[in-house]
Amino acid sequence: MAFSESMSTPDRPANSVGGAPRAGAAAGPGTERQYRPRRSCLAVPASNPRFIDKAMGLPADAFFLDLEDACAPSAKPGARKNIVAALNTGDWGEKIRTVRVNDLTTHWTYRDVIEVVEGAGANLDAIVLPKAQDAMQVRWLDLTLTQIETTVGLPVGRIGIEAQIENARGLLAVDDIAQASPRLQTIIFGPADFMASINMRTLIVGEQPPGYDTGDAYHHILMSLLLAARAHDLQAIDGPYLQVRDVEAFTRSARRTAALGFDGKWVLHPDQIAAANEVFAPDQADYDHAELILDAYDYYTSDAGGAKGSAMLGDEMIDEASRKMALVVTAKGRAAGLTRTSSFTPPDAR
Ligand code: GLV
Ligand code: MG
Repeated sequence: MAFSESMSTPDRPANSVGGAPRAGAAAGPGTERQYRPRRSCLAVPASNPRFIDKAMGLPADAFFLDLEDACAPSAKPGARKNIVAALNTGDWGEKIRTVRVNDLTTHWTYRDVIEVVEGAGANLDAIVLPKAQDAMQVRWLDLTLTQIETTVGLPVGRIGIEAQIENARGLLAVDDIAQASPRLQTIIFGPADFMASINMRTLIVGEQPPGYDTGDAYHHILMSLLLAARAHDLQAIDGPYLQVRDVEAFTRSARRTAALGFDGKWVLHPDQIAAANEVFAPDQADYDHAELILDAYDYYTSDAGGAKGSAMLGDEMIDEASRKMALVVTAKGRAAGLTRTSSFTPPDAR
């Protein structure tokens, strides 16, 4: 399928890898697989039915019902039931529907997965596995999902996995983690736990630690996550910004990871959603420019356009690498609902 066709098809396709449906249908931008936007990923404490109801009406691209840190230990059994009810009966529109289970160093994970997937697997897109530390943990989740899907008659492999990297071990193993299962859809950064894990000296998540004045303390971490995601055709998602009333600071933090190439960011508060949706979509001028590059490149490489490898578009030279960059921008722009405001006219038609 041509990339441009795949971008315009409806959601939830059954991509196929090795004959099995591939859950990682939310591919990275610029790839041949379909790109589902995750500009804003809304955190929703699953123990709070009022928050769950409110989340349904918010314009986030994705949400996760949280059984982990937003849920007190004694509230977890009730929260699992809230999740099953909310996924089965709630109107979530086109949002990507995920649940964050507890990490595998706890005794809660297996019950989280079994109750949620047996109860509402048909209405769930992915499980978020926090504090992922090695490929074995992802394989455990993959196999458990396969057993449940087989038992309850769901299509095997449709439910995806999102691996959250939140500690030093996870970062060192991120390349293995990113290829541990065809169900993987995203690599997510968990900055708060990560900062605790490496003893970074600050309590303000997402801001530079005071005293470190030689660069960006997160650069190595963010680039490692991004590279692992891109190497295995996954999306890269930035974690939360905890100063929820400071939308300006959230926007600044989001711009940094959007500039690197991340696909989206967690949002903890309704006010952060519009900012994330804007920051992680290309602006109109870049989107128009990228569409022009694709059209011009198609034309100039065709026989009618002279079958050239590179050509001039205005003052800019474009070639195959320009097309690849433009594919990334158009993928994100189309997924964000942008429509072009200019069109390409071949020189001999002018
Ligand atoms: C999110 O889970 C974080 O630890 O930042
Ligand atoms: Mg965490």
